[in-house]
Amino acid sequence: MRIKHTYRYSVPISVNAIESITHAALLCCRSLATDGLLSPFIRNESPVSTRKMLLDIALSALALVVACWILFEPILRAGRTFWGAARLIFDSNTVDLKARYGEWAVVTGSTDGIGKAYAKELAVRGMSLVLISRNFDRLENTRKEILATNPNVEVKVIVADFSKGKDIYEKISIQLQDLPVAILVNNVGKQYEYPMYLGEVPETELWDIINVNVGATTLMTRMLIGAMEKRGRGAIVNVSSGSELQPLPLMTVYAATKIYVKSFSEALRAEYSRSGITVQHLVPFFINTKMNAFSAKLQVSSVMVPDATTYARNAVATLGKLDSSTGYWAHGIQQFFTVIPPVWVRTKIGQLINQTFREDYFKGKTVS
Ligand SMILES: NC(=O)c1ccc[n+]([C@@H]2O[C@H](COP(=O)([O-])OP(=O)(O)OC[C@H]3O[C@@H](n4cnc5c(N)ncnc54)[C@H](OP(=O)(O)O)[C@@H]3O)[C@@H](O)[C@H]2O)c1
Repeated sequence: MRIKHTYRYSVPISVNAIESITHAALLCCRSLATDGLLSPFIRNESPVSTRKMLLDIALSALALVVACWILFEPILRAGRTFWGAARLIFDSNTVDLKARYGEWAVVTGSTDGIGKAYAKELAVRGMSLVLISRNFDRLENTRKEILATNPNVEVKVIVADFSKGKDIYEKISIQLQDLPVAILVNNVGKQYEYPMYLGEVPETELWDIINVNVGATTLMTRMLIGAMEKRGRGAIVNVSSGSELQPLPLMTVYAATKIYVKSFSEALRAEYSRSGITVQHLVPFFINTKMNAFSAKLQVSSVMVPDATTYARNAVATLGKLDSSTGYWAHGIQQFFTVIPPVWVRTKIGQLINQTFREDYFKGKTVS
């Protein structure tokens, strides 16, 4: 369990660790060569014992690398998370998104919650918008709301239900074909109605979660990334969740779709960063939106559970600066403490928290 966890979260940091350790091993070899152990080799003594000695040194160096990796990786991981949180607090530079990426942004799931607030923030920064959600009236209301405060931008709407899967993308693509989309915000997401055991989740709800959380992010990206590549610029923002940080019992499928979003984002960045495309992976923790309606506690805004507007204002400010971020300083601090314990401990804690939410949900049902 522990080894798996170390591998999953450590690769970029451990490359640095390996470099340092290799450097230390080289110094060590040089000192061995001059001070004794390797001196027979230098003096051409006994090739057999020299080979054995070199093998011993190589094995010792390997053991040293593995030991350092296991010992220091959690510290380096926590350090990296701390640095991410510190950047959110102290780095107040903002990127001119329109100048850097272009004029048009598409936001999926944009009539409520984070998507709506994010779209508003982009409009404040002069971006014209395409809003995509299921309901035309809600889209129209959002469009009017945005135009009332930002009359200089254009806002278009597309009605689409991402839970329908494959069939909707051609229609969306036709409606977007003449627009030079500069920023795609893959925000739309679906969560369980309340924390459930897998066998309790209705089958249609599972398909919806997969089609919305995995399907929409993948297919919308594929639809728009080719044109961004041709223009040599663009940004894709993939909204994941703190639930990606470990398996999450009672929200098993939701959390699994979010680790997909993380993996997808990181691989996509490696494929397309040479084309001038930013791929940002956003990892919000709890935000006061209707997605968390299963818990009355999460329907009260606070520093740790901000409202969508506060979250989006902070998150948009990280675009173009941080490839992976919680998007909000207090969530950065939460992430720092979350990743310290090993994965199995976090999984257990997640299960206990979800068990509490589940009980709250049933208590709420009994009262009402
Ligand atoms: N809230 C949190 O605590 C939290 C934490 C971490 C990550 N996230 C992630 O943040 C993203 C946004 O979450 P949120 O809390 O803002 O959600 P939300 O308040 O439930 O809003 C969801 C938005 O998506 C639209 N939508 C829902 N199903 C859709 C579908 N099948 N097709 C098209 N549009 C659909 C909804 O509009 P219509 O109903 O009008 O279609 C609404 O505009 C999600 O990816 C979520 O996983 C949320």
